[in-house]
Amino acid sequence: MASGWDARPPWRPGRLPLLLCLLLLVQLLRSPARAAHIKKAEATTTTTTSAGAEEDEGQFDRYYHEEELGSALREAAAAGPPGLARLFSIGSSVEGRPLWVLRLTAGLGPPPPDGDLGPDAAGPLLPGRPQVKLVGNMHGDETVSRQVLVYLARELAAGYRRGDPRLVRLLNTTDVYVLPSLNPDGFERAREGDCGLGDSGPPGASGRDNSRGRDLNRSFPDQFSTGEPPSLDDVPEVRALIEWIRRNKFVLSGNLHGGSVVASYPFDDSPEHKATGVYSKTSDDEVFRYLAKAYASNHPIMKTGAPHCPGDEEETFKDGITNGAHWYDVEGM
Ligand SMILES: *[C@@H]1O[C@H](CO)[C@@H](O)[C@H](O)[C@H]1NC(C)=O
Ligand SMILES: *[C@@H]1O[C@H](CO)[C@@H](O)[C@H](O)[C@H]1NC(C)=O
Repeated sequence: MASGWDARPPWRPGRLPLLLCLLLLVQLLRSPARAAHIKKAEATTTTTTSAGAEEDEGQFDRYYHEEELGSALREAAAAGPPGLARLFSIGSSVEGRPLWVLRLTAGLGPPPPDGDLGPDAAGPLLPGRPQVKLVGNMHGDETVSRQVLVYLARELAAGYRRGDPRLVRLLNTTDVYVLPSLNPDGFERAREGDCGLGDSGPPGASGRDNSRGRDLNRSFPDQFSTGEPPSLDDVPEVRALIEWIRRNKFVLSGNLHGGSVVASYPFDDSPEHKATGVYSKTSDDEVFRYLAKAYASNHPIMKTGAPHCPGDEEETFKDGITNGAHWYDVEGM
């Protein structure tokens, strides 16, 4: 499932300022007094949702840089009971930063004694337990997902420990993998407040791309292409993800972006690669629509289908969802 938010392609005018929309959203969640946008969407006011969140307030007010991401994930794991989580890295970015994944599911047993943090540290697959993955920050400057995936991991682990019935059921039956940052190099290059630089600034400066100037979200082989698949030499992040996907059996995936506020479901392109307006169905279209709607209908702004993002005020999405290719065609997914 390709669901989440999406930064629109840089060639469309007024796209990257959409990032503001998400930044705004984060601001609003933090300060109900400024929640004009949310009020308009008739959302309920945000309240503290998890036990312990109040005393943790300080942890939610800044981005985790460099090694802090690894330690934040270690802390998230430690919030759960023993045997619930495994931290490992699926490979490295161009500049050598680890691509961390936190695996969460009940009954994992103790981690390997040698302290290995490579892909094998994930531990064995559990028969009959569906694997689900969430990937964030593949555009280095679309940063909100990187944070919220850490919060989500922590909440899943802490919720299991305190016996939250939904979360216990979830992690008893589902094998969840959280990869908060696929582009840690771009993230470190991005500057808070630089929203939109990618449109006009020097190439790569915004942090959207990896350190070799490659957009990771445009660097996967394309299912409708008949030629040679693209070389992955400049995108070790993509290669690591593909290898990891091949070693596993994920049945559902979410990919979180910054930018417009919509749940976009597969496919993202069609054989004819028309720029926009072609509904490109998977054979599971109904399932994807259902899941996209479930996501969007629980999001105070997304569910309105009219996010009023700066630069794209008029853009609307029925029920807050869209087929990716119908929105705009992107090859190499
Ligand atoms: C690229 O981003 C889109 C959202 O625009 C997402 O649907 C898709 O899954 C992403 N592709 C990959 C390979 O992650
Ligand atoms: C979750 O799994 C544990 C360990 O097998 C079991 O004791 C518990 O009853 C399960 N809870 C739910 C809600 O499935």
